Amino acid sequence: MRIAVAIDGPAGAGKSTIAKLIGEKFNLMYIDTGAMYRAVALMAKRNGISEKEVEKLSSLVKSLNMKFINNKLFVNGEDVSKKIREVKISNIVSLYATVSEVRSLLVSLQQSMSQKYNVIMDGRDIGTVVLIDAPFKFYLVASPEVRARRRFNELKNKDIEVSYESILKDIKKRDYIDSTREVTPLRKAEDAIEINTSNLTIEEVVNEISNHIYKKVN
Ligand code: DC
Repeated sequence: MRIAVAIDGPAGAGKSTIAKLIGEKFNLMYIDTGAMYRAVALMAKRNGISEKEVEKLSSLVKSLNMKFINNKLFVNGEDVSKKIREVKISNIVSLYATVSEVRSLLVSLQQSMSQKYNVIMDGRDIGTVVLIDAPFKFYLVASPEVRARRRFNELKNKDIEVSYESILKDIKKRDYIDSTREVTPLRKAEDAIEINTSNLTIEEVVNEISNHIYKKVN
């Protein structure tokens, strides 16, 4: 049976942590679609292309060869996994992710990946656009405060100095941009199972998702 798992939800809801673990458990290729939008923002910034220069942006995206190897993203052979997480990229990525030409190019790429491999993909439009027919769709949510606290602790553990308030503000801003943009805004697919992770451990979320998968596969 072809397995495709879609995980959507707002920033900081735990999507990537959970998707990596479920991917390992069920032997699925993990595709972090947010990383792909981040890579476009990184390359556009390097080449001085703004989100308004749609033609230049389209040619740039077409020139990028993106590959996931061991959960790391390589773009034209360069491992960009660390650079795309920098704050200066987090601050601009939503702007590039609202450009419909960028979205349709990345969506096609994501769909062709899912035709070649059994995948687990996380993002904002996986259940609603990219993998409409996926047999497994989940929508993870958590309050902005819980998400900001998680991100704050994660950065603190890496000795990165930021205030909780500034993270909370950034999360709320990104929620607003992601859910109000005209092109495929963040929303739950009708057939997705919603899981509120605010008061759950990582293990509890993994177990809940695994149980849904086992139920259908067996
Ligand atoms: O999940 P993330 O924070 O790495 O996502 C980075 C940005 O890309 C965020 O602004 C939302 C956007 N995104 C999107 O629009 N569609 C996706 N499938 C994945 C991410």
